[in-house]
Amino acid sequence: MAKTTLTTSGGAPVPSNNTSETAGPRGPVLMQDYQLLEKLAHQNRERIPERTVHAKGWGLQGKFTVTKDITKYTCAKLFSKVGNSCEVLSRWSTVAGEQGAADAERDVRGFSLKFYTEDGNWDMVGNNTPVFFVRDAYKFPDFIHTQKRHPKTNLRSPEAMFDFWAAQPECVHQVTILMSDRGIPVNPAHMNGYGSHTYSMWNAQGERVWVKFHFKTQQGHKHYTNAEAETLIGKTRESYQEDLVNMIETGNHPKWTFYIQVMPEKDAETAGFNPFDLTKVWPHGDYPLIEVGELEMNQVPENYWSHVENAAYSPSNKVPGIGYSPDKMLQARVFSYADAHRYRLGTHYEALPANAPKSDVHHYHKDGSMRFFPPQTGHVDAYYEPNQYAEAAVADPSVAEPPLAISGDADRYVQEDADADYVQPRALYAEVMDQGERDRLHHNMAAAMGPCSESVTERWLAVLKRVHPDYEAGVRRALKEAGDVNAVPVTDETPQHANEPAK
Ligand code: HEM
Repeated sequence: MAKTTLTTSGGAPVPSNNTSETAGPRGPVLMQDYQLLEKLAHQNRERIPERTVHAKGWGLQGKFTVTKDITKYTCAKLFSKVGNSCEVLSRWSTVAGEQGAADAERDVRGFSLKFYTEDGNWDMVGNNTPVFFVRDAYKFPDFIHTQKRHPKTNLRSPEAMFDFWAAQPECVHQVTILMSDRGIPVNPAHMNGYGSHTYSMWNAQGERVWVKFHFKTQQGHKHYTNAEAETLIGKTRESYQEDLVNMIETGNHPKWTFYIQVMPEKDAETAGFNPFDLTKVWPHGDYPLIEVGELEMNQVPENYWSHVENAAYSPSNKVPGIGYSPDKMLQARVFSYADAHRYRLGTHYEALPANAPKSDVHHYHKDGSMRFFPPQTGHVDAYYEPNQYAEAAVADPSVAEPPLAISGDADRYVQEDADADYVQPRALYAEVMDQGERDRLHHNMAAAMGPCSESVTERWLAVLKRVHPDYEAGVRRALKEAGDVNAVPVTDETPQHANEPAK
């Protein structure tokens, strides 16, 4: 077979890719060796800013198939027929670590899915936990600062983490999950994914319901203890990427079952809890899981950079039939992600292969970085709208979301009943976890807060005491056993949360 000729990026054949052009065998390099200059210049531009959060990630391509009829809840075309399917791009991530961080670190995992539907891209940008640390976007940047490096020492700071958490008792639910057995999944195939927020769906009759998204692993839950993770990281920092590539190359495709929880629109007014509070789960007894479909990831993207690093997920990517809710954190995320992508990737980031919808795209956005595609308005003279051209793109009022009734005075509302923040963590601690899990939780938390000052330690222990006196006593006891992490194995039966079945 004839060899492929190396060319310049302008397409001209290149005479050498190894030897610089010099004036004589020992003379200086000539400036006209433009290929050398371009090669060095390209290398200088091989990095872009890493994601401010969720910088370390692993991605696969795959497919989603609808297995059950949910047309009574949504008119989204993807769900219009059992058997419908679409391509999916996943990206799982840790939150706090930088791009070079070890995979098996204790952290919440991001769980992002891009569904390339016939109606455009639907992004499910969730986590492996059903709740989050805070419920107001004002607190998100400060929370993330506590997870990142201290400005002076350039080290991660348990003092900052627990100082912040002690001042925000709403965090204790998520911190309990983070410090539990589920804090270090063996790899993304062995963890669940949750939309976490309350979203909405509307059907062909324009009726809205509130929904939660759940992706349950079919591989079973598997997690490392602190001790196992430390040993593993000593051997490899890339255990997730290795596991995922090995799984796909050996034909072992990870799968998840997709379920929704559904709440009738009116129930939100009478529910005994705020269904739009991201720090709470919905009881499965009242809002059971409804099966929707199956996700199977079956391919390692050919180029990590172009499909995983360039992936731009955003809760603002939704399709008709799927909507938001009044959750204030979700509202803030609708702005924040696309803003991050314009900064990190460039103005027309949606045109990159990882992000480009498989369906037709027609918009009137104009120039700017990465404007490499032809006009998409439907007519070359239609670079504004409204216009006189019949073929040019116009909006379709039939895809509008049903009107949302909103009443109330504009104000800054804080949670009135702080005690409510302790109810679900208490059930998780006292009713769902067995004694072995509670012991490991105590030790994991003590290991994480070991270097905290006495005042931060006492403030945090006071929060734990309000959850359950045994929780406080257990962590206090474990703090005395410095660095001694229990290594009892975790089973597939380990439940994640009150109200949730083990599998
Ligand atoms: C107001 C609260 C939040 C804000 C402002 C926020 C903001 C951000 C930003 C700016 C990024 C980086 C995006 C990029 O550069 O590509 C990001 C990544 C991410 N966030 Fe959030 N976030 C918030 C809460 C959450 C919550 C509650 C979840 C999960 C339920 C979540 C899940 C993720 C995931 C999975 C990623 C990584 C996406 C990827 O794989 O590329 N975030 N977030």
